[in-house]
Amino acid sequence: MLELRSVSRRFGSRPDLAARIAIALGAAKPPPVVHALDKVSLSIEKGEVLGLVGESGCGKSTLGRIAAGILPPSDGQVLWKGEDRSGLHGKRLRDADLQAQMIFQNPMAALNPRMTVEGLVSEAPKIHGMMAGDKGTYVDDYLRKAGFDPAMKRRLPHQFSGGQRARVNIARALAVQPDFLVCDESVAALDVSIQAQILNLFMDLRAQLDLTYLFVSHDLGVVEHISDRVAIMYLGRIVEEAPVAEVFARPNHPYTQQLLAEVPRIRPGKRRFAAMKGELPSPLAPPPGCHFHPRCPFAHDRCRHEVPERREIAPGHSSACHLNDQQAA
Ligand SMILES: Nc1ncnc2c1ncn2[C@@H]1O[C@H](COP(=O)(O)OP(=O)(O)O)[C@@H](O)[C@H]1O
Ligand code: SF4
Ligand SMILES: [Mg+2]
Repeated sequence: MLELRSVSRRFGSRPDLAARIAIALGAAKPPPVVHALDKVSLSIEKGEVLGLVGESGCGKSTLGRIAAGILPPSDGQVLWKGEDRSGLHGKRLRDADLQAQMIFQNPMAALNPRMTVEGLVSEAPKIHGMMAGDKGTYVDDYLRKAGFDPAMKRRLPHQFSGGQRARVNIARALAVQPDFLVCDESVAALDVSIQAQILNLFMDLRAQLDLTYLFVSHDLGVVEHISDRVAIMYLGRIVEEAPVAEVFARPNHPYTQQLLAEVPRIRPGKRRFAAMKGELPSPLAPPPGCHFHPRCPFAHDRCRHEVPERREIAPGHSSACHLNDQQAA
C-alpha cells in the first residue's frame, strides 16, 4: 500500500528579507532547522494496521502527513501502491489524494462549526462528483457506517458530544471512499469508555471496507489492541519495529522497554509506573550518535558518536541499538 524509503523532513522558519540580508552579512545566525524526520524507512501492507508510537514532538504527525500525501518529504521517496508519489499528476494524483485520508486529533478543530453534519460529510464527495443517485442516501450511508444517527444530520457539530463528533469526522473521511486511513491521535481527546467504542468502530470498518491503517498515538496502550505491527519513534527516527505481540513480549530497544514500563497494567501486583528518565531533548539540537543516549541506562562510548542502524534481530523484528552488535559478537 505504502512505502517510505529513507524519508527525511526538515522544517525551518523562513527569514524575511531584512533577516536574510543580516544572515548574508554575517550579522545574524541562520534560523534553526528542525529535523522532524531523519531517514525513515517503513512499509505498510494492504489490509494491515501499523501503530506508530512515540512521545509528543518525535515526528509522528509529520510522518502521518507525509504518508497521507498532505506534506511532501524534504528527502527520500514515498511509494504509493508501488509508484513514486512525486511522479503522480492529474487524475492519478487526485485519486491518490482521495484514497489516503487523514483523521485528525481534534474533531472540533477539524470540523467547520457553521456547517451541518450533512454539509460536512457531503462537501468533498460533491466536489469530486462521487455522489451518483440520491445525495441524501449517500450521506446517510456513511453516517450509519460511522455509527451516527442520520436523523440528526441537519444539526451543527457543536451540538454533539466528543464521541459523536469523532464519528462525524470518520464519516467525512469515509465519504470519499478511501482505502488507507491515517488516524492521528484520533481518540486521544476522548473519555476512556468512548475511546474503546471508537477503536472498535475502526476495527469494524477495517473488516467491512477493507481498510489499511496507520494508527498514530503517543500511547502504546491504545495501539496495542488494534495494531498488527508497531513502529516506535524517537526524535525523528524509528528505533524499533515488530509485530505487536513481539513488542510486548520481547521489547529490544531500551526506549521501547521504558515506554512499556509506563503503560499502566491493571494486573494485581504488576502495576508499574516507572517514570522515563529525563526530558525529551529538543529536536532543534538532537544529541549526536544514538539520540536516546542521554536517557539510556545502557549508554556507552560508542552510543555518543555513532548512529545505530536499525537491523533485523528476529524475523519481522528490527531494532536500532548498538547492544545488539555486542550480543551478536
Ligand atoms: N509546520 C511546521 N513548522 C515547523 N516545525 C514543525 C512543523 N510541524 C512540526 N514541526 C516540528 O517537528 C517536530 C515533530 O513534530 P510532530 O510531527 O508534530 O510530532 P508529534 O506528532 O510526534 O508530536 C516538532 O519539533 C515540531 O515542533
Ligand atoms: S545505542 Fe546505546 S544509547 Fe542507544 S539505545 Fe542502544 S545502548 Fe542505549
Ligand atoms: Mg502529533
